[in-house]
Formats: sequence, structure tokens, C-alpha cells
Amino acid sequence: MSAPRRRLLVATGSAHKLIELQRLFGDLPIDLVTLRDAGIVGEAPEDGATFEENALQKARWYAAASGEWTLADDSGLEVAALEGAPGVYTRRYAGADATDVQNYEKLLAATVGVADRSARFVCTMALVDPVDRSERTFRGECRGSLTTAPRGTFGFGYDPIFEVDGRTMAERPPAEKDALSHRGRAAALVAAALRSELQP
Ligand code: IMP
Repeated sequence: MSAPRRRLLVATGSAHKLIELQRLFGDLPIDLVTLRDAGIVGEAPEDGATFEENALQKARWYAAASGEWTLADDSGLEVAALEGAPGVYTRRYAGADATDVQNYEKLLAATVGVADRSARFVCTMALVDPVDRSERTFRGECRGSLTTAPRGTFGFGYDPIFEVDGRTMAERPPAEKDALSHRGRAAALVAAALRSELQP
């Protein structure tokens, strides 16, 4: 007998992230619901000091607004030579409405001549159930280094300037990125937890 399917609200406005999660959760008995499907119009606050606080803040807010079981994530890039910056400010590094290119160009400018280029992407996912009030978080990391110029056309965000083993994330096709990425790793932890709970 097949397992009953459960709805899961994915609290992201990013089409890229939704597509990544659809790929990663594809074999689970889960129907992903978007913010648009759930008719959510407002936007959750995001003013925590850590990725975990932000992910929980977002998941709680969207779970309360929709009544749906909700997954939210927060992610960003930590650069060792910049003492972990941009961190929780990764998305708005070059300003509130900055484009991906403006953000990574600012980071390249801030690290001109910096020898230690080590950096890591971090992703925390929070799963909040508004019915039984359970809350869980899952953290994935991907260690690599900053390039000095963008390379590649896949992916989004800072992918063209973040490399692992000599190739940037933007030079790797999606399935290869999923296997390495911070979000892929956090989502794999979520998927493992859900698989053991949802499959009979
Ligand atoms: P948020 O978690 O959607 O707020 O993302 C924070 C910032 O990190 C944004 O600027 C994203 O572009 C960037 N970011 C998050 N995940 C990735 C990724 O997988 N590749 C490149 N940039 C990313």
C-alpha cells in the first residue's frame, strides 16, 4: 500500500530553490505547495542574528499564516578573511535590491589581493508544524573558496565565484551541485527525517 501524501508549504519566493527542492524530494510522498498556491501575500520578518533564527522565524510565520506544515530555509556565504561576512547579510550585501551580479562583484572587490580565499555556504532548514507545534532545524555546509572572477552559467546567486575542487558551482550541472551544496546537504537531512516518518 502506498503512503498517504502530505502537503508541505515551501516558504520561498525563489523559483530556483523550489525547483531544487522538487528534485531533492521527488521520491517522497509529499506534495510541495508554494506561497502562491497557499495564497500568502505578506512577507515574514527576517532579522535574526543567525541562519537558524532566520529559518525558524520564517517557518513559524508562514505556518501561522497558512495553517500548513512549512519548510523555510535561510542560507548565505561566510568568508573566512572577512570574519564570516557577509553571513546573514548575503542577500542584501550590495543593498536591499541588489542583483546577484552586484552582490558577487562587491564581494570580489572586497577581497581583491586577499590570499586566504576560503569560504563556506551554510544553509539551515526549519520545519514547523502548526498543528502539533513541532519545530526542527537541519544544517548543511559546503566548504570551498572564492575565485577572483566569475565563471560558469548554471545556478544562481554567488555560484559563479564559489569553487570546490577547481570548478565553480556555476560550472556544475544541477545534479552535481545538489550532491555538494549546502542546501543539498540540509535537504538530504530533511528528506531522511521525512522518509523515516512518512514511509510505512
Ligand atoms: P536566502 O537564503 O534566499 O536569503 O539567500 C541568501 C543569499 O545567499 C542570496 O544572495 C543567495 O543568492 C545566496 N545563496 C543562497 N544559496 C545559494 C546557492 O546555492 N548558490 C549561490 N548563492 C546562494
